[in-house]
Amino acid sequence: MSYKQKVAETLHAALEKLGAADFSREKVQDMLETPPNPQLGDIAFPCFQLAKVLRKAPPLIAGELAELVKSDYFAKVEAAGPYVNVFLNRHRVTAEVIETIARQGSSYGERNIGQGRHVPIDLSSPNIAKPFSMGHLRSTVIGNAIANILEKHGYRPVRINHLGDWGTQFGKLITAYKLWGDDERIKAEPIKELLSLYIRFHEEAEKDESLEEKGREWFKRLEDGDEEARRLWQWFRDESLKEFMKIYDLLGVTFDSTHGEAFYNDKMDRVVKLLEEKNLLVESEGALVVPLDEYDMPPCLIKKSDGATLYATRDLAAALYRYETYDFAMALYVVGNEQRLHFQQVFRVLEKMGCEWAREMYHIPFGMMLKDGKKMSTRKGKVVLLEEVLAQAIADVAKVIEEKNPTLKNKEEVARQVGVGAVIFHDLKNYRQNDINFSWEEMLTFEGETGPYVQYTHARACSLLRKGGYQEGPYEIVEGALDDPETWTVITLLAAFPEVIDRAREQFDPSQIGKYVVDLAQAFNKYYANVRILADDEQVKTARLHLVAAVVTVLREGLRLLGLAAPEEM
Ligand code: ARG
Repeated sequence: MSYKQKVAETLHAALEKLGAADFSREKVQDMLETPPNPQLGDIAFPCFQLAKVLRKAPPLIAGELAELVKSDYFAKVEAAGPYVNVFLNRHRVTAEVIETIARQGSSYGERNIGQGRHVPIDLSSPNIAKPFSMGHLRSTVIGNAIANILEKHGYRPVRINHLGDWGTQFGKLITAYKLWGDDERIKAEPIKELLSLYIRFHEEAEKDESLEEKGREWFKRLEDGDEEARRLWQWFRDESLKEFMKIYDLLGVTFDSTHGEAFYNDKMDRVVKLLEEKNLLVESEGALVVPLDEYDMPPCLIKKSDGATLYATRDLAAALYRYETYDFAMALYVVGNEQRLHFQQVFRVLEKMGCEWAREMYHIPFGMMLKDGKKMSTRKGKVVLLEEVLAQAIADVAKVIEEKNPTLKNKEEVARQVGVGAVIFHDLKNYRQNDINFSWEEMLTFEGETGPYVQYTHARACSLLRKGGYQEGPYEIVEGALDDPETWTVITLLAAFPEVIDRAREQFDPSQIGKYVVDLAQAFNKYYANVRILADDEQVKTARLHLVAAVVTVLREGLRLLGLAAPEEM
């Protein structure tokens, strides 16, 4: 039990005696505040809300409560106006926090909220034969972190890469390939080659109208299962996926499923039939749509006038498939803000179909990656290609290591972990809905609020443990070993880790953890600067090393949840 929970429990018991039993422990815990000034105590409990129930003035209630609240967990309890101020027995809390983390290790903060139920998470989902964009990167790292966080709380995340591998563009691509394609070049640089074929198609189509027609024909052949069309499509898909895999390998992200849009081709008739049965389909200019006027939304397009199904139809089929396959607790879609309407439409259509479970589907939107205040687009030559970004970050870190620590073991691996960590953290320290300004300086410095800074702090703490000859096992917190204010700041942060994960899970917000690890790293560095950890006195040193070990455990676990490695030396 955390010290906050203990305070809440003791207050709750006292409130029962006063006749306010409906203030549950959880409710009391939510009401707890941190006093503006540490001289007033470690935790404050405001009594305003109790005045109504107990029909007394808040200061009077505070006085009575302060008398009733007793525990050897507290050094002192005082009423100050309408507040009850609690001074913790810091020595005891410190010992407990360190002990809990030592005992639980990386499972510190674990909970079983999910009870093993599945949560399909739709993430990354780039489009075949197109570059992997910054938006796809954001989706990948945010989705992966949310999956880790849910897993920590007892859910079974299913990471699904819903590849954009179907649509009329594949007819155009095949046409272009038949006219101008070069196998060797495609094999060497698939995405770049396929993209340039696609661009060339559009350029030439402006001069030659017959091309569009050819593109439609090839797509029709593809849909009808024509062997050559299927083979080319499969090849483009495989080659593209191979290239995407390089990025995933660097990022350390894996998927449980890469069923893309094409996987649902044979599952869409059923959707259309279900919609028909429920009388939800309406004809509009030759197309079939589900009107959503009652939600003030434009209709959801199900089938085009030429009979082709659409993005939304495939998402409806995918939703049904996921529900039937995983019997999920909830289903998440980590996709940029610009698709907000699309997902609202899909969810509402499912509700109209009578799928109660659609209420547990969540679109988790995020903002854009900007460069110099503008959207980083894949067209107009303004692209910062993702692989290049990662390669550049790794190279920059490798250079720093070469300067500062040339004898480091596993130099290359560490450069990868830190370079990639910088890119991931640059994203995850920001609330996902905010746009992010892409900045090399901000990403890579070892001093700011960056991945490398947190990783470096972790490595530094590890090196202290090595130097100090840290060993697990019983120890005593002797007078003066862990009494500094800097220690207490570290202790309160360590104690808060489980609550931070709670919030990150509730709000699908990894940045809670991103900000937290920066705070912890800063507090630790302040501690390191002000307190001699490797003290001459053996017992003092041992106690302090145990605190350092707790910091190492929590930093590493925080980084892991975000998808970053924590090298022990760098
Ligand atoms: N491929 C799409 C894109 O790049 C994202 C797919 C998102 N997932 C989904 N189920 N619609 O824009």
